[in-house]
Amino acid sequence: MSDKTNSPQETKRIHDLAPSELFAEFMKNGWAPSDLHGITASPAVAWCVARRAALSEAFSGIRLVIPAGNFKVRSNDCDYRYRPHSAFAYYTGIQGVEATADAVLVMEPSDAGHQQLLFINTRSTRDTDAFYRDNRYGELWVGRRFTVDEAQARYEIETRRVDSLAEFLGAKKETLAIRDQDRATDQLVEKHERESEFATFVSAHRLVKDEYEINEMQRACDATARGFSDIVRALPAAVGRPRGERVIEAAFFGRARVEGNDLGYETIAAAGSHACILHWIRNDGDVRPGELLLVDAGVEMESYYTADVTRTLPITGKFSPAQRSLYMLVYEAQKAGFAAVKPGADWVDINRASQGVLAHGLADMGVLTVSAEESLRPEVGLHRRWTLHGATHMLGMDVHDCAQARKDQYGESKLEVGMVLTVEPGLYIQPDDELFAPEFRGIGIRIEDDVVVTETGCRILSNGLPRHPDEIEAWMAALLR
Ligand code: GLY
Ligand code: MN
Ligand code: MN
Repeated sequence: MSDKTNSPQETKRIHDLAPSELFAEFMKNGWAPSDLHGITASPAVAWCVARRAALSEAFSGIRLVIPAGNFKVRSNDCDYRYRPHSAFAYYTGIQGVEATADAVLVMEPSDAGHQQLLFINTRSTRDTDAFYRDNRYGELWVGRRFTVDEAQARYEIETRRVDSLAEFLGAKKETLAIRDQDRATDQLVEKHERESEFATFVSAHRLVKDEYEINEMQRACDATARGFSDIVRALPAAVGRPRGERVIEAAFFGRARVEGNDLGYETIAAAGSHACILHWIRNDGDVRPGELLLVDAGVEMESYYTADVTRTLPITGKFSPAQRSLYMLVYEAQKAGFAAVKPGADWVDINRASQGVLAHGLADMGVLTVSAEESLRPEVGLHRRWTLHGATHMLGMDVHDCAQARKDQYGESKLEVGMVLTVEPGLYIQPDDELFAPEFRGIGIRIEDDVVVTETGCRILSNGLPRHPDEIEAWMAALLR
């Protein structure tokens, strides 16, 4: 039997659907031509040209290897749904269902800078065994991928088959690679002392978003706003049944899959005191009238840009006085955070502004044993018992975007026009916190919005959702009518 497959070194997924040589020949013949015609360039392509040019300039004379990454096994012979590494997507423009595991972008030094090559796992055409036997890569099992020519037309990068990559990289050359994404390139590329500098560059490159990216982030926020409306509409179904938080989670997930590629991160659907557990993604609690529901969720678009939005909603549609008073403190803290977002401001000022409001509010409530000013000294920080986390981070293709940037680029740095970040103060009163009066215990509130830095300050991308308690109550009433 022929051993012709398009699968990279994958044997355990080869299905035993080959009773005979006669069957193999029978399966490979009698099919109509199926080339795709009229392929147009991906909308991100023009932007990717500029991004790769900057990469080329920064690492002149060095071969660069940016893998998309392999499938990740969920269990046994099932993989997680595939999602490429953000750096690969950023420099190639490959997105959504078009992304295929094991692809690699190679920038090969040349006289003109770098020759740019995309190695992909091409389609398993009808004349291959993989087409009908390979349950991980075969077209009959998982659907069609692009041919070399089709991919080249779509991404406007010279494209080759990924099974020629080993030979290509075998020609030894000084090489920098993004590691721990792709088993093949990890083995083929020797470690290099500038590797972390390379990882830092590709992460920090995304700090300032271009026009295409900001548009995608706006789309992500708009889809996310619709997802939050779905959540409100799902509330009656969530209340009074076991694991009502799952009803909330599922309502949002439907929106993420229908309008986007996926969730940008696991949804936090935290009813009642679950809101005080910061990464509550178990979502198996009940949704009870009279309590609050904190939902932190974001739709990731086909382009992989994600929103990161939190709303804290009264389950019956009306805030109690205690809920409202704590909510208003967080609301004011977020307003102070928004006001701190402007070009040239220190990134840390966003958190400083929000924490300042929260600390003063907590001091006014009499729960701090020192003054607000004293608490705000970094070496004191008593208010942090209830504020728990920072009030901002960069946002983009990754929910915590640009995480490998140096401190002087992100952290101990100034804000620049085009940066996209969250403003997300919170207050969390644990249910057993005896420093607070009983009516406040078990209340967790976070308000999280996504903003882009503009010439004059910031624009709130997630403005499609209400924030003020009066607006929230009116919005919920309209949706639940
Ligand atoms: N959803 C994660 C965060 O807000 O940072
Ligand atoms: Mn966030
Ligand atoms: Mn969030």
